[in-house]
Parts: sequence; structure tokens; C-alpha cells
Amino acid sequence: MITCSAPGKVYLFGEHAVVYGQPAIACAVERRVFASVKLLNSGRISIRAMDQRRDCPSTDFTYICQAVRVIKARTANDFGAEIAIKSELPPSQGLGSSAAVTVSTIKALSECLGIGLRDQEIAEMGYQVECAIQGRASPTDTFVSATGGVVIIDDTKTSHLMHPDVSIIVGATGVMRSTGDVINDVARLKRDYPEIIEKILCTIGDITRLGERKLSEGDINGVGALMNINHGLLESLGVSNITLDKLVYKARDEGALGAKMTGAGRGGCMFAIARGSSADLVAEAIAQAGAQVFITTVSDAGLRIERET
Ligand code: PMV
Repeated sequence: MITCSAPGKVYLFGEHAVVYGQPAIACAVERRVFASVKLLNSGRISIRAMDQRRDCPSTDFTYICQAVRVIKARTANDFGAEIAIKSELPPSQGLGSSAAVTVSTIKALSECLGIGLRDQEIAEMGYQVECAIQGRASPTDTFVSATGGVVIIDDTKTSHLMHPDVSIIVGATGVMRSTGDVINDVARLKRDYPEIIEKILCTIGDITRLGERKLSEGDINGVGALMNINHGLLESLGVSNITLDKLVYKARDEGALGAKMTGAGRGGCMFAIARGSSADLVAEAIAQAGAQVFITTVSDAGLRIERET
């Protein structure tokens, strides 16, 4: 049996706009998904969640089944496998749990089958899986989960950026939603109001480009200010909600340098960046407002082999 893991992520800038070709910056966080794979002689595929059932919801099963199909098509091998998933990420909350499940499963299958896929190839295959399940996706989640660190995706080119030296405080609303549904709602809004929505998406792209510069200059206050502006524009696309907005304002009131929702929105998570002791104050304030909270940092490690037995 081989166990591989991959981190979750937050979007510093650019979610939704990235689906329309604008750049986005995502940051891997120190919370991981673990996929354990044992090959079987029969062609049977069994998938289970380790520990508790909530660790691997049925949506994750869909991504795993598609990952298996992609590997079978590539290797022309109708293998069977037992796949077990354990997750430190709340599912369907904008923290990239589906991408982390997908790439860690592909990596574990690749290692078991001895095909030695590189992380970049795994990220690309993971992107195909996300497109097949969601209809529309960007390569961001699978790339950042496969390679770790802070990543800019621009016109399908991806590169790593400097790390912000900050605490990342994540607040989960506990509300699960379908990424595909929210993406479709933005597509409808764009179809109905193209002259307005296209400008908003382009402005989010400009925020990401400026954010890239602020990161390279180590200007964390600038990064925070741009996160706040980006949140406002996501709200105007109709993808935030009152719970996320409340948590974002609580975090800012407690001294966060910036706070925004992350991922598809309409539930899921928000996060804030803060330095020193204000990280604890921000965490306490958003926990009191009803969020499940954890404080984390940037994860340098992307895909990792954890155990071979
Ligand atoms: O909520 P998540 O982690 O699935 O993120 C979705 C982000 C989108 O930009 C809306 C879609 C994508 O694939 O980038």
C-alpha cells in the first residue's frame, strides 16, 4: 500500500475571474488530504473514508472515480484498487479538497503502478478530472496542490512566487455548495450583463497582477488591501453571502491586514492574513461569530509520498 498526501489552498486573488482567462494567485496551506492505494488482482475499485464518513463525502468519490478512469485510459491497464481517503480539510468549502483528493489519488496510483508521473503531469491530469466533473475549472487548484507554495496561474502558464510571512486564519462556514452551480450562476450573470461583468472580471485580473508585484516587494499591507478590494468584487458577482461578509468584517475589525472569501463562495470559507498576536484575536473573533477556525501558514510541500508498506 502507498499513501500520498497533498495540501489544500486558499485563493489570495482571482477566483472566478480565472475561469475566464484572468490570472489568479493561490497559496497552499498546511492542511492535507491523504490517499492510500493498494492494487487488487480483480478489476474492482473500492473507495472508503478512513476514520469517519464525513472525511470523504460522496462528491469526493466522484473525483476519485474520474481519476481512476484517467489513469486507466493512460496506462491501458484495467487494474483494480482499494482506495482510502483521510482528510484534514473540510470538504466543499473552497479549500481545494477535491483537487487535493484528486492529485493525491493519482500520485498514489502512479506510484503503485510504477509509472512515476511527475507532479506537473499529475497537476494536468487532475485538471482534466476537475473539468470532466465540474464542466468548467481552472488549473489553479490542482497545480497548487501538486506543487505547493504560492502560485500564479496566468493564461495556463504557472509559476511560483515569494511567500508572504504571515499567519493565515481560515474561517469555515460549514455550508457546503457545488462549485459547478456557483460557476454557472456567474456565467449567467455574464451572459445577462456582459458589459458590466466583463469589466469586473478584468479588474479582478488587474488586482491579481498588482498582488503579484506586492508579494515580490514583500508589501504585505498592500497584499491585504488588495484582498479586501477583491472580496468586494466577488460580492458584486453574487458569490459571497451574509455569513462570509460578516466573518470578513469581524476579521478586519480585529486588525487583519486583509480578509476575503476563498474559492467558489456562497458558503465555504473565508480567510484573513495577520501578523503576530493579532492572528489569535482574529481567530477568536471569527470563532465567536460562528465559524470553525484554524490558523495555518503557507505549505511549501505539494505532493508527498507519506508511507509505503
Ligand atoms: O471552491 P473551490 O475550491 O472549488 O474553487 C473554485 C474556484 C473557481 O475559480 C470558481 C473555479 C476554479 O476552478 O478555479
